[in-house]
Amino acid sequence: MEFIVKSGTPEKQRSGCIVAGVFETRKLSPVAHQIDEVSGGAIGAILRRGDLEGKSGQTLLLHNVPNLPSERVLLVGCGKEKEFNEGRYREVTAKAVGTLKDTGATEVTSYLTELEVKGRDIVWKVRHAVEVTEAALYRFDQLKSKPNNNRRALKRVVLAVPKRSDLGPGEQAIREGLAIAAGVKLARDLGNLPGNICTPTYLAEQAAELGKQYNLKTAILEKEDMQKLGMGALLSVARGSRQPPKLIVLEYRGGKDDEAPVALVGKGLTFDAGGISIKPAANMDEMKYDMCGGASVLGALKAAAEMKLPLNVVGIVPSSENLPDGDANKPGDIVTSMSGQTIEVLNTDAEGRLILCDALTYAERYKPAVVVDVATLTGACVIALGNHASGLLANNDQLARELINAGKYTHDRAWQLPLWDDYQKQLDSNFADMANIGGREAGAIIGGSFLARYTKNFKWAHLDVAGTAWKTGKEKGATGRPVPLLVQFLLNRARKDGAETA
Ligand code: BES
Ligand code: MN
Ligand code: ZN
Repeated sequence: MEFIVKSGTPEKQRSGCIVAGVFETRKLSPVAHQIDEVSGGAIGAILRRGDLEGKSGQTLLLHNVPNLPSERVLLVGCGKEKEFNEGRYREVTAKAVGTLKDTGATEVTSYLTELEVKGRDIVWKVRHAVEVTEAALYRFDQLKSKPNNNRRALKRVVLAVPKRSDLGPGEQAIREGLAIAAGVKLARDLGNLPGNICTPTYLAEQAAELGKQYNLKTAILEKEDMQKLGMGALLSVARGSRQPPKLIVLEYRGGKDDEAPVALVGKGLTFDAGGISIKPAANMDEMKYDMCGGASVLGALKAAAEMKLPLNVVGIVPSSENLPDGDANKPGDIVTSMSGQTIEVLNTDAEGRLILCDALTYAERYKPAVVVDVATLTGACVIALGNHASGLLANNDQLARELINAGKYTHDRAWQLPLWDDYQKQLDSNFADMANIGGREAGAIIGGSFLARYTKNFKWAHLDVAGTAWKTGKEKGATGRPVPLLVQFLLNRARKDGAETA
Protein backbone atom coordinates (compact mmCIF):
# COMPACT_ATOMS: atom_id res chain seq x y z
CA MET A 1 0.00 0.00 0.00
CA GLU A 2 1.14 3.50 -0.77
CA PHE A 3 0.85 6.04 2.02
CA ILE A 4 1.29 9.79 1.84
CA VAL A 5 0.68 12.65 4.24
CA LYS A 6 -1.19 15.76 3.22
CA SER A 7 -2.42 18.86 4.96
CA GLY A 8 -5.62 20.53 3.82
CA THR A 9 -9.32 20.71 4.44
CA PRO A 10 -11.80 18.06 3.25
CA GLU A 11 -13.74 20.21 0.80
CA LYS A 12 -10.56 20.51 -1.29
CA GLN A 13 -9.80 16.77 -1.44
CA ARG A 14 -10.66 15.04 -4.67
CA SER A 15 -10.48 11.55 -3.23
CA GLY A 16 -12.27 8.22 -3.65
CA CYS A 17 -13.35 8.51 -0.06
CA ILE A 18 -12.93 10.81 2.89
CA VAL A 19 -12.90 9.16 6.30
CA ALA A 20 -14.13 11.13 9.29
CA GLY A 21 -14.99 10.24 12.87
CA VAL A 22 -18.27 10.69 14.75
CA PHE A 23 -18.48 10.38 18.51
CA GLU A 24 -21.36 9.11 20.57
CA THR A 25 -24.06 10.41 20.46
CA ARG A 26 -23.94 11.88 16.93
CA LYS A 27 -21.19 14.30 17.93
CA LEU A 28 -19.26 15.30 14.83
CA SER A 29 -15.46 15.39 14.94
CA PRO A 30 -14.00 18.71 13.70
CA VAL A 31 -13.59 17.36 10.17
CA ALA A 32 -17.03 15.77 10.06
CA HIS A 33 -18.33 19.14 11.17
CA GLN A 34 -16.49 20.87 8.30
CA ILE A 35 -18.00 18.43 5.82
CA ASP A 36 -21.40 19.07 7.32
CA GLU A 37 -20.98 22.81 6.81
CA VAL A 38 -19.85 22.71 3.17
CA SER A 39 -22.60 20.22 2.35
CA GLY A 40 -25.26 22.48 3.81
CA GLY A 41 -25.96 20.28 6.80
CA ALA A 42 -26.21 17.00 4.88
CA ILE A 43 -24.26 14.98 7.47
CA GLY A 44 -26.28 16.24 10.41
CA ALA A 45 -29.51 15.52 8.57
CA ILE A 46 -28.53 11.93 7.85
CA LEU A 47 -27.45 11.32 11.42
CA ARG A 48 -30.68 12.72 12.78
CA ARG A 49 -32.51 10.04 10.81
CA GLY A 50 -30.78 7.57 13.13
CA ASP A 51 -28.35 5.83 10.76
CA LEU A 52 -25.28 6.30 12.95
CA GLU A 53 -25.12 6.83 16.68
CA GLY A 54 -21.34 7.03 16.79
CA LYS A 55 -20.84 3.81 18.74
CA SER A 56 -17.30 2.53 18.41
CA GLY A 57 -16.88 0.50 15.24
CA GLN A 58 -20.12 1.63 13.56
CA THR A 59 -19.68 2.81 9.98
CA LEU A 60 -21.79 4.63 7.43
CA LEU A 61 -20.77 5.03 3.80
CA LEU A 62 -22.25 8.03 2.00
CA HIS A 63 -22.20 8.82 -1.72
CA ASN A 64 -22.55 12.15 -3.51
CA VAL A 65 -22.35 14.41 -0.51
CA PRO A 66 -23.30 17.89 -1.83
CA ASN A 67 -20.46 20.34 -2.66
CA LEU A 68 -17.78 17.80 -1.93
CA PRO A 69 -15.37 16.81 -4.73
CA SER A 70 -14.79 13.37 -3.15
CA GLU A 71 -16.88 10.44 -4.35
CA ARG A 72 -17.63 9.06 -0.90
CA VAL A 73 -17.57 9.88 2.76
CA LEU A 74 -17.08 7.15 5.32
CA LEU A 75 -18.26 8.07 8.79
CA VAL A 76 -16.75 5.94 11.51
CA GLY A 77 -18.18 5.69 15.01
CA CYS A 78 -15.55 6.44 17.64
CA GLY A 79 -17.51 5.81 20.83
CA LYS A 80 -17.69 8.29 23.68
CA GLU A 81 -15.28 11.16 23.16
CA LYS A 82 -14.17 11.01 26.80
CA GLU A 83 -13.21 7.35 26.40
CA PHE A 84 -11.36 7.75 23.12
CA ASN A 85 -7.82 6.45 23.57
CA GLU A 86 -4.93 4.69 21.85
CA GLY A 87 -6.68 1.35 21.58
CA ARG A 88 -9.83 2.96 20.18
CA TYR A 89 -7.82 4.95 17.68
CA ARG A 90 -6.31 1.72 16.39
CA GLU A 91 -9.69 -0.05 16.38
CA VAL A 92 -11.52 2.62 14.40
CA THR A 93 -8.64 2.88 11.94
CA ALA A 94 -8.76 -0.88 11.36
CA LYS A 95 -12.54 -0.74 11.04
CA ALA A 96 -12.33 1.99 8.38
CA VAL A 97 -9.81 -0.02 6.36
CA GLY A 98 -11.88 -3.18 6.67
CA THR A 99 -14.93 -1.33 5.34
CA LEU A 100 -13.13 0.44 2.53
CA LYS A 101 -11.28 -2.54 1.13
CA ASP A 102 -14.57 -3.90 -0.15
CA THR A 103 -15.65 -0.69 -1.88
CA GLY A 104 -14.56 0.62 -5.24
CA ALA A 105 -12.47 3.43 -3.78
CA THR A 106 -8.88 3.38 -5.01
CA GLU A 107 -7.66 6.29 -2.96
CA VAL A 108 -8.87 7.30 0.46
CA THR A 109 -8.10 10.32 2.57
CA SER A 110 -8.32 9.62 6.26
CA TYR A 111 -8.89 12.38 8.77
CA LEU A 112 -8.90 9.93 11.65
CA THR A 113 -5.26 11.01 12.12
CA GLU A 114 -6.59 14.38 13.23
CA LEU A 115 -8.59 12.95 16.11
CA GLU A 116 -7.22 13.87 19.49
CA VAL A 117 -5.49 10.95 21.24
CA LYS A 118 -4.40 11.94 24.72
CA GLY A 119 -0.63 12.33 24.98
CA ARG A 120 0.05 11.30 21.38
CA ASP A 121 1.31 13.53 18.59
CA ILE A 122 0.78 13.34 14.85
CA VAL A 123 3.90 11.19 14.39
CA TRP A 124 2.43 8.54 16.68
CA LYS A 125 -0.92 8.68 14.91
CA VAL A 126 0.56 8.39 11.42
CA ARG A 127 2.83 5.53 12.49
CA HIS A 128 -0.05 3.61 13.97
CA ALA A 129 -2.34 4.34 11.02
CA VAL A 130 0.22 2.75 8.71
CA GLU A 131 0.79 -0.28 10.93
CA VAL A 132 -2.90 -0.88 11.59
CA THR A 133 -3.79 -0.47 7.90
CA GLU A 134 -1.17 -2.96 6.79
CA ALA A 135 -2.25 -5.42 9.48
CA ALA A 136 -5.93 -5.07 8.51
CA LEU A 137 -5.16 -5.82 4.87
CA TYR A 138 -3.02 -8.87 5.69
CA ARG A 139 -4.17 -12.17 4.20
CA PHE A 140 -2.55 -15.56 4.38
CA ASP A 141 -3.86 -17.46 1.39
CA GLN A 142 -0.70 -18.79 -0.18
CA LEU A 143 -1.77 -22.35 0.66
CA LYS A 144 -5.29 -22.18 -0.76
CA SER A 145 -5.48 -23.91 -4.12
CA LYS A 146 -7.50 -21.03 -5.50
CA PRO A 147 -6.11 -17.88 -3.95
CA ASN A 148 -8.82 -15.35 -3.22
CA ASN A 149 -8.65 -13.29 -6.38
CA ASN A 150 -10.63 -10.43 -4.93
CA ARG A 151 -8.73 -7.75 -6.74
CA ARG A 152 -8.49 -4.98 -4.26
CA ALA A 153 -9.25 -1.52 -5.52
CA LEU A 154 -7.59 0.34 -2.67
CA LYS A 155 -4.16 1.56 -3.76
CA ARG A 156 -3.36 4.69 -1.85
CA VAL A 157 -4.02 5.98 1.63
CA VAL A 158 -3.66 9.69 2.26
CA LEU A 159 -3.23 10.55 5.92
CA ALA A 160 -4.31 14.02 6.85
CA VAL A 161 -2.07 16.09 9.11
CA PRO A 162 -3.20 19.39 10.65
CA LYS A 163 -0.22 21.59 9.74
CA ARG A 164 2.24 21.89 6.87
CA SER A 165 5.06 21.55 9.38
CA ASP A 166 3.75 18.05 10.19
CA LEU A 167 4.52 16.82 6.67
CA GLY A 168 8.22 16.06 7.23
CA PRO A 169 7.77 14.20 10.53
CA GLY A 170 4.72 12.50 9.01
CA GLU A 171 6.77 11.13 6.13
CA GLN A 172 9.36 9.80 8.55
CA ALA A 173 6.53 8.16 10.52
CA ILE A 174 5.29 6.49 7.33
CA ARG A 175 8.76 5.09 6.62
CA GLU A 176 9.04 3.69 10.14
CA GLY A 177 5.50 2.33 10.05
CA LEU A 178 6.15 0.54 6.78
CA ALA A 179 9.41 -0.97 8.03
CA ILE A 180 7.69 -2.27 11.16
CA ALA A 181 4.76 -3.55 9.10
CA ALA A 182 7.17 -5.44 6.84
CA GLY A 183 8.76 -7.06 9.90
CA VAL A 184 5.33 -7.93 11.27
CA LYS A 185 4.29 -9.46 7.96
CA LEU A 186 7.40 -11.64 7.84
CA ALA A 187 6.74 -12.88 11.37
CA ARG A 188 3.07 -13.55 10.60
CA ASP A 189 3.82 -15.43 7.39
CA LEU A 190 6.40 -17.65 9.08
CA GLY A 191 4.09 -18.23 12.05
CA ASN A 192 1.13 -19.16 9.89
CA LEU A 193 3.04 -21.69 7.83
CA PRO A 194 2.34 -25.24 8.99
CA GLY A 195 4.95 -27.48 10.59
CA ASN A 196 5.35 -29.64 7.51
CA ILE A 197 6.54 -26.62 5.54
CA CYS A 198 8.10 -24.40 8.18
CA THR A 199 10.70 -26.83 9.52
CA PRO A 200 13.99 -25.78 11.14
CA THR A 201 15.61 -26.14 7.72
CA TYR A 202 12.98 -23.90 6.12
CA LEU A 203 13.36 -21.30 8.87
CA ALA A 204 17.13 -21.33 8.33
CA GLU A 205 16.66 -20.91 4.57
CA GLN A 206 14.36 -17.96 5.11
CA ALA A 207 16.86 -16.42 7.50
CA ALA A 208 19.63 -16.89 4.94
CA GLU A 209 17.40 -15.26 2.34
CA LEU A 210 16.85 -12.30 4.68
CA GLY A 211 20.59 -12.14 5.25
CA LYS A 212 21.22 -12.00 1.52
CA GLN A 213 18.59 -9.34 0.97
CA TYR A 214 20.01 -7.00 3.59
CA ASN A 215 23.65 -7.94 3.50
CA LEU A 216 23.66 -9.45 6.99
CA LYS A 217 26.40 -11.75 8.16
CA THR A 218 24.68 -15.11 8.33
CA ALA A 219 25.69 -18.38 9.96
CA ILE A 220 23.62 -21.54 10.24
CA LEU A 221 25.02 -23.92 12.84
CA GLU A 222 24.32 -27.59 12.15
CA LYS A 223 23.94 -30.51 14.52
CA GLU A 224 27.67 -31.29 14.30
CA ASP A 225 28.54 -27.69 15.24
CA MET A 226 26.20 -27.94 18.22
CA GLN A 227 27.84 -31.19 19.27
CA LYS A 228 31.27 -29.53 19.20
CA LEU A 229 29.93 -26.65 21.28
CA GLY A 230 28.39 -29.04 23.79
CA MET A 231 24.80 -27.88 23.32
CA GLY A 232 23.42 -30.96 25.05
CA ALA A 233 20.11 -29.34 26.01
CA LEU A 234 19.21 -28.14 22.51
CA LEU A 235 20.37 -31.40 20.98
CA SER A 236 18.33 -33.48 23.42
CA VAL A 237 15.12 -31.86 22.18
CA ALA A 238 16.09 -32.34 18.54
CA ARG A 239 16.79 -36.05 19.05
CA GLY A 240 13.05 -36.72 19.05
CA SER A 241 12.66 -35.40 15.52
CA ARG A 242 13.72 -36.46 12.05
CA GLN A 243 14.22 -32.85 11.07
CA PRO A 244 17.77 -31.67 11.80
CA PRO A 245 18.03 -28.78 14.26
CA LYS A 246 19.48 -25.43 13.22
CA LEU A 247 20.96 -22.55 15.13
CA ILE A 248 20.42 -19.43 13.06
CA VAL A 249 22.70 -16.43 13.60
CA LEU A 250 22.21 -13.14 11.74
CA GLU A 251 24.27 -10.03 12.35
CA TYR A 252 23.08 -6.57 11.41
CA ARG A 253 25.86 -4.05 11.73
CA GLY A 254 24.54 -0.51 11.41
CA GLY A 255 26.54 0.81 14.36
CA LYS A 256 30.19 1.49 15.05
CA ASP A 257 32.58 -1.42 14.64
CA ASP A 258 33.48 -1.52 18.31
CA GLU A 259 29.94 -1.02 19.60
CA ALA A 260 28.52 -3.94 21.58
CA PRO A 261 25.47 -5.43 19.86
CA VAL A 262 21.96 -5.96 21.14
CA ALA A 263 21.37 -9.71 21.06
CA LEU A 264 17.86 -10.93 20.26
CA VAL A 265 17.31 -14.63 20.93
CA GLY A 266 14.09 -16.22 19.66
CA LYS A 267 12.55 -19.63 20.29
CA GLY A 268 12.21 -21.33 16.91
CA LEU A 269 10.39 -24.53 17.85
CA THR A 270 8.64 -25.29 14.56
CA PHE A 271 6.22 -27.81 16.07
CA ASP A 272 5.68 -28.67 19.71
CA ALA A 273 3.79 -31.92 20.25
CA GLY A 274 5.23 -32.04 23.76
CA GLY A 275 7.52 -34.98 23.10
CA ILE A 276 7.02 -38.07 25.30
CA SER A 277 5.08 -35.83 27.73
CA ILE A 278 2.71 -35.47 24.81
CA LYS A 279 0.12 -32.70 24.67
CA PRO A 280 -3.65 -33.36 24.44
CA ALA A 281 -5.00 -33.47 20.87
CA ALA A 282 -7.31 -30.45 21.11
CA ASN A 283 -5.79 -27.42 19.44
CA MET A 284 -2.43 -29.11 19.08
CA ASP A 285 -2.25 -27.64 15.57
CA GLU A 286 -1.59 -24.29 17.24
CA MET A 287 1.80 -25.52 18.33
CA LYS A 288 3.03 -24.68 14.83
CA TYR A 289 3.22 -21.16 16.29
CA ASP A 290 5.89 -22.22 18.73
CA MET A 291 8.50 -20.59 16.50
CA CYS A 292 6.93 -17.15 16.70
CA GLY A 293 9.64 -15.85 19.04
CA GLY A 294 12.24 -16.74 16.44
CA ALA A 295 10.10 -15.28 13.66
CA SER A 296 9.78 -12.01 15.59
CA VAL A 297 13.56 -11.81 15.86
CA LEU A 298 13.81 -12.17 12.09
CA GLY A 299 11.05 -9.60 11.65
CA ALA A 300 12.79 -7.12 13.96
CA LEU A 301 16.07 -7.56 12.08
CA LYS A 302 14.29 -6.96 8.81
CA ALA A 303 12.76 -3.73 10.10
CA ALA A 304 16.05 -2.57 11.62
CA ALA A 305 17.86 -3.16 8.34
CA GLU A 306 15.05 -1.54 6.37
CA MET A 307 15.35 1.58 8.55
CA LYS A 308 19.15 1.43 8.46
CA LEU A 309 19.25 1.89 12.22
CA PRO A 310 22.64 3.04 13.50
CA LEU A 311 23.26 0.16 15.91
CA ASN A 312 24.47 -3.42 15.94
CA VAL A 313 22.07 -6.31 16.41
CA VAL A 314 22.70 -10.02 16.48
CA GLY A 315 19.74 -12.35 16.09
CA ILE A 316 20.03 -15.92 17.38
CA VAL A 317 17.30 -18.49 16.72
CA PRO A 318 17.61 -22.05 17.99
CA SER A 319 15.28 -24.18 15.92
CA SER A 320 14.00 -27.71 16.37
CA GLU A 321 10.84 -29.79 16.53
CA ASN A 322 9.61 -31.41 19.75
CA LEU A 323 8.08 -34.81 18.96
CA PRO A 324 7.70 -38.19 20.62
CA ASP A 325 10.12 -40.78 19.24
CA GLY A 326 12.13 -43.81 20.33
CA ASP A 327 15.15 -41.55 20.63
CA ALA A 328 13.35 -38.59 22.22
CA ASN A 329 14.00 -37.16 25.67
CA LYS A 330 12.32 -39.24 28.38
CA PRO A 331 11.07 -37.85 31.69
CA GLY A 332 13.95 -38.21 34.12
CA ASP A 333 16.68 -37.95 31.50
CA ILE A 334 19.57 -35.75 32.52
CA VAL A 335 21.28 -33.60 29.90
CA THR A 336 24.29 -31.31 30.06
CA SER A 337 23.88 -27.80 28.69
CA MET A 338 26.58 -25.82 26.93
CA SER A 339 27.10 -23.87 30.17
CA GLY A 340 28.11 -27.10 31.90
CA GLN A 341 25.03 -27.07 34.13
CA THR A 342 23.07 -30.32 34.15
CA ILE A 343 19.29 -30.49 33.75
CA GLU A 344 16.83 -33.18 34.77
CA VAL A 345 14.13 -33.25 32.09
CA LEU A 346 11.10 -33.97 34.25
CA ASN A 347 8.70 -32.91 31.52
CA THR A 348 9.72 -33.12 27.87
CA ASP A 349 7.11 -30.48 27.05
CA ALA A 350 9.18 -27.82 28.81
CA GLU A 351 11.48 -27.89 25.79
CA GLY A 352 11.61 -24.18 24.99
CA ARG A 353 13.87 -23.45 27.93
CA LEU A 354 16.11 -26.34 26.89
CA ILE A 355 16.77 -24.98 23.42
CA LEU A 356 16.98 -21.40 24.68
CA CYS A 357 19.46 -22.00 27.47
CA ASP A 358 22.10 -23.15 25.01
CA ALA A 359 21.34 -20.29 22.62
CA LEU A 360 21.68 -17.83 25.52
CA THR A 361 25.03 -19.29 26.50
CA TYR A 362 26.06 -19.01 22.87
CA ALA A 363 25.03 -15.33 22.83
CA GLU A 364 27.80 -14.58 25.35
CA ARG A 365 30.47 -14.75 22.67
CA TYR A 366 29.08 -11.59 21.05
CA LYS A 367 29.79 -9.64 24.25
CA PRO A 368 26.30 -8.15 23.94
CA ALA A 369 25.29 -4.84 25.51
CA VAL A 370 22.00 -6.52 26.41
CA VAL A 371 20.22 -9.76 25.55
CA VAL A 372 16.48 -10.05 25.00
CA ASP A 373 14.95 -13.45 24.42
CA VAL A 374 11.49 -13.92 22.96
CA ALA A 375 9.61 -17.17 23.38
CA THR A 376 6.18 -18.77 23.40
CA LEU A 377 7.38 -20.34 26.62
CA THR A 378 4.46 -21.09 28.93
CA GLY A 379 0.73 -21.69 28.86
CA ALA A 380 0.80 -20.20 32.36
CA CYS A 381 1.66 -16.81 30.89
CA VAL A 382 -1.52 -16.95 28.80
CA ILE A 383 -3.49 -17.67 31.97
CA ALA A 384 -1.82 -14.78 33.78
CA LEU A 385 -2.01 -12.05 31.15
CA GLY A 386 -4.29 -13.27 28.36
CA ASN A 387 -3.49 -12.04 24.90
CA HIS A 388 -3.08 -8.37 25.81
CA ALA A 389 0.39 -8.26 27.32
CA SER A 390 3.55 -10.27 26.89
CA GLY A 391 5.15 -11.45 30.12
CA LEU A 392 8.43 -9.74 30.93
CA LEU A 393 11.15 -10.94 33.29
CA ALA A 394 14.52 -9.25 33.57
CA ASN A 395 17.68 -9.24 35.64
CA ASN A 396 18.11 -5.50 34.97
CA ASP A 397 15.46 -2.90 35.76
CA GLN A 398 16.68 -0.31 33.26
CA LEU A 399 16.39 -2.84 30.45
CA ALA A 400 12.95 -3.88 31.65
CA ARG A 401 11.86 -0.24 31.62
CA GLU A 402 13.13 0.27 28.09
CA LEU A 403 11.10 -2.71 26.88
CA ILE A 404 7.97 -1.71 28.76
CA ASN A 405 8.18 1.80 27.29
CA ALA A 406 8.75 0.51 23.77
CA GLY A 407 5.70 -1.69 24.23
CA LYS A 408 3.57 1.22 25.42
CA TYR A 409 4.52 3.38 22.47
CA THR A 410 3.74 0.65 19.94
CA HIS A 411 0.66 -0.65 21.76
CA ASP A 412 2.47 -3.99 21.86
CA ARG A 413 2.56 -4.07 25.60
CA ALA A 414 4.55 -6.09 28.10
CA TRP A 415 3.96 -6.55 31.81
CA GLN A 416 6.74 -7.31 34.24
CA LEU A 417 6.65 -10.30 36.58
CA PRO A 418 9.04 -10.75 39.51
CA LEU A 419 12.26 -12.68 39.08
CA TRP A 420 12.98 -13.06 42.78
CA ASP A 421 15.46 -15.61 44.00
CA ASP A 422 12.72 -17.08 46.16
CA TYR A 423 11.29 -18.81 43.11
CA GLN A 424 14.53 -20.60 42.27
CA LYS A 425 14.08 -23.43 44.75
CA GLN A 426 11.11 -24.70 42.76
CA LEU A 427 13.67 -25.83 40.19
CA ASP A 428 15.67 -27.97 42.63
CA SER A 429 16.44 -31.48 41.42
CA ASN A 430 17.53 -34.50 43.46
CA PHE A 431 19.77 -35.69 40.67
CA ALA A 432 20.97 -32.78 38.53
CA ASP A 433 21.83 -29.08 38.95
CA MET A 434 18.22 -28.20 38.20
CA ALA A 435 14.95 -29.61 36.91
CA ASN A 436 13.33 -28.18 33.80
CA ILE A 437 9.97 -27.70 35.55
CA GLY A 438 8.96 -26.37 38.95
CA GLY A 439 5.44 -27.43 39.79
CA ARG A 440 2.13 -25.78 39.01
CA GLU A 441 2.68 -22.49 40.76
CA ALA A 442 3.96 -19.37 38.97
CA GLY A 443 4.62 -21.19 35.71
CA ALA A 444 5.60 -18.15 33.65
CA ILE A 445 7.99 -16.95 36.37
CA ILE A 446 9.54 -20.40 36.70
CA GLY A 447 10.21 -20.45 32.95
CA GLY A 448 12.02 -17.13 33.28
CA SER A 449 13.77 -18.29 36.46
CA PHE A 450 15.18 -21.28 34.61
CA LEU A 451 16.58 -19.04 31.86
CA ALA A 452 17.98 -16.66 34.49
CA ARG A 453 20.47 -19.38 35.44
CA TYR A 454 22.01 -19.01 31.99
CA THR A 455 22.09 -15.24 31.77
CA LYS A 456 24.09 -14.20 34.80
CA ASN A 457 26.92 -12.71 32.74
CA PHE A 458 24.93 -10.05 30.93
CA LYS A 459 21.95 -7.73 31.15
CA TRP A 460 19.02 -9.81 30.10
CA ALA A 461 15.26 -9.73 29.63
CA HIS A 462 12.82 -12.44 28.65
CA LEU A 463 9.53 -11.88 26.81
CA ASP A 464 7.01 -14.69 27.12
CA VAL A 465 4.78 -14.20 24.07
CA ALA A 466 2.70 -17.38 24.38
CA GLY A 467 -0.44 -15.25 24.70
CA THR A 468 0.40 -12.43 22.31
CA ALA A 469 2.12 -14.00 19.29
CA TRP A 470 -1.03 -15.55 17.89
CA LYS A 471 -4.79 -15.54 18.17
CA THR A 472 -6.97 -18.59 18.69
CA GLY A 473 -10.57 -19.10 17.64
CA LYS A 474 -12.26 -17.71 14.55
CA GLU A 475 -9.47 -15.28 13.77
CA LYS A 476 -6.79 -17.89 14.33
CA GLY A 477 -3.42 -16.71 13.11
CA ALA A 478 -0.07 -15.19 13.94
CA THR A 479 -0.11 -11.56 15.09
CA GLY A 480 3.49 -10.58 14.41
CA ARG A 481 3.93 -9.50 18.04
CA PRO A 482 6.31 -8.53 19.57
CA VAL A 483 7.97 -7.16 16.42
CA PRO A 484 6.67 -3.59 17.02
CA LEU A 485 7.95 -3.63 20.61
CA LEU A 486 11.36 -4.97 19.59
CA VAL A 487 11.79 -2.50 16.76
CA GLN A 488 10.79 0.46 18.93
CA PHE A 489 13.24 -0.76 21.56
CA LEU A 490 15.99 -0.76 18.93
CA LEU A 491 14.88 2.61 17.55
CA ASN A 492 15.02 4.18 21.00
CA ARG A 493 18.44 2.70 21.63
CA ALA A 494 19.68 4.00 18.28
CA ARG A 495 18.41 7.42 19.31
CA LYS A 496 20.06 6.92 22.68
CA ASP A 497 16.96 8.04 24.53
CA GLY A 498 15.95 4.50 25.41
CA ALA A 499 13.89 4.83 28.55
CA GLU A 500 12.44 8.23 27.73
CA THR A 501 10.10 7.48 24.81
CA ALA A 502 7.07 5.77 26.28
N1 BES B 1 5.11 -24.04 23.66
C1 BES B 1 4.64 -24.35 24.95
C2 BES B 1 4.00 -23.17 25.64
C3 BES B 1 2.59 -22.85 25.24
C4 BES B 1 1.54 -23.59 25.72
C5 BES B 1 2.34 -21.77 24.46
C6 BES B 1 0.25 -23.27 25.38
C7 BES B 1 1.04 -21.43 24.12
C8 BES B 1 -0.01 -22.18 24.58
C9 BES B 1 5.78 -24.83 25.84
O1 BES B 1 6.78 -25.52 25.19
C10 BES B 1 5.19 -25.73 26.84
O2 BES B 1 4.70 -26.76 26.47
N2 BES B 1 5.23 -25.33 28.10
C11 BES B 1 4.68 -26.10 29.15
C12 BES B 1 5.60 -25.98 30.34
C13 BES B 1 5.23 -26.89 31.46
C14 BES B 1 5.43 -28.32 31.07
C15 BES B 1 6.07 -26.53 32.66
C16 BES B 1 3.30 -25.53 29.47
O3 BES B 1 3.12 -24.32 29.48
O4 BES B 1 2.39 -26.33 29.69
MN1 MN C 1 6.29 -27.57 25.06
ZN1 ZN D 1 7.03 -25.14 23.22
